[in-house]
Amino acid sequence: MKTANNNIEKAAQELNVASYAVALTGAGISTESGIRDFRGKNGLWTTDPEAERKAYQSFAKFLRDPKEHWIERLTSASLLRDLSGYQPNLGHLALAELENMGIIKTVITQNIDNLHSSAGSRNLIEYHGNYSKLRCMNCASKYEKDEFNLEEMLRNDSLPPICPNCGHALKLDIVFFNEPIPEEVAARSLHEAVKSDVMLVCGTSATVYPFAGLPLAAKQNGGAIIIEINAEPTPLTNGGLSDYFIQGSTGECLTQIMQEIKRIRT
Ligand code: APR
Repeated sequence: MKTANNNIEKAAQELNVASYAVALTGAGISTESGIRDFRGKNGLWTTDPEAERKAYQSFAKFLRDPKEHWIERLTSASLLRDLSGYQPNLGHLALAELENMGIIKTVITQNIDNLHSSAGSRNLIEYHGNYSKLRCMNCASKYEKDEFNLEEMLRNDSLPPICPNCGHALKLDIVFFNEPIPEEVAARSLHEAVKSDVMLVCGTSATVYPFAGLPLAAKQNGGAIIIEINAEPTPLTNGGLSDYFIQGSTGECLTQIMQEIKRIRT
């Protein structure tokens, strides 16, 4: 693993000649938009382990008692409850530009904040879903959250929201701990990882599976070059899977990489 600080140039060179580069992102790419991550220095789980413990119970509670799950969801001060109003930052914008340049073919994100879409990324896989949608686990139908007046349903005791298609209780379209990744999402993400010859891994602690297994799949099945950008080393770095580790902010580093590719191409 090369750790020289000219990794920006080397990463730009690798991406410039890549035939199928894929980007993976985690909560770290959204901290510069003002959304806290989970395990970083000021992360939600770092500063409140009890919140993480409760998060691990969400899925079981939904299966056991969807109505109670929704009441708790709508009445607790969940810091991730309302993600509207945040704007994409330079990191999101750089990845969207790299897609426009034909460099990045797909972005696979763990983030539910919609910021990659807002930045203009089109070929996007939301591995852990999207906070603005509801999903039916029975028939896989998806709906905009705003199609349901959840606060009114809370007031008139008519939770949970019901799937118009099959009558099952709807859940938020975010993947809770211990909840399986929707099959189509998992299969498509693995396909993209194995197909990649360069993988950018941006702002993830690489500790939550199965997402964290995608870089290994890319390396083992496609021989991909792994370029990691993070504020701090991760198991990918320390385990030697990353060919390049760029320590810094995703906003700055992705912008510098994008600018370096443009310089090479002029
Ligand atoms: N630039 C670069 N790296 C950053 C920045 C930044 N501006 N801000 C934070 N980081 C790094 C942190 O140091 C940390 O290593 O990003 C990483 C974020 O890791 P996590 O908080 O664990 O987020 P993530 O990897 O996305 O978590 C995975 O865990 O709780 C679940 O479902 C949740 O999707 C989430 C999953």
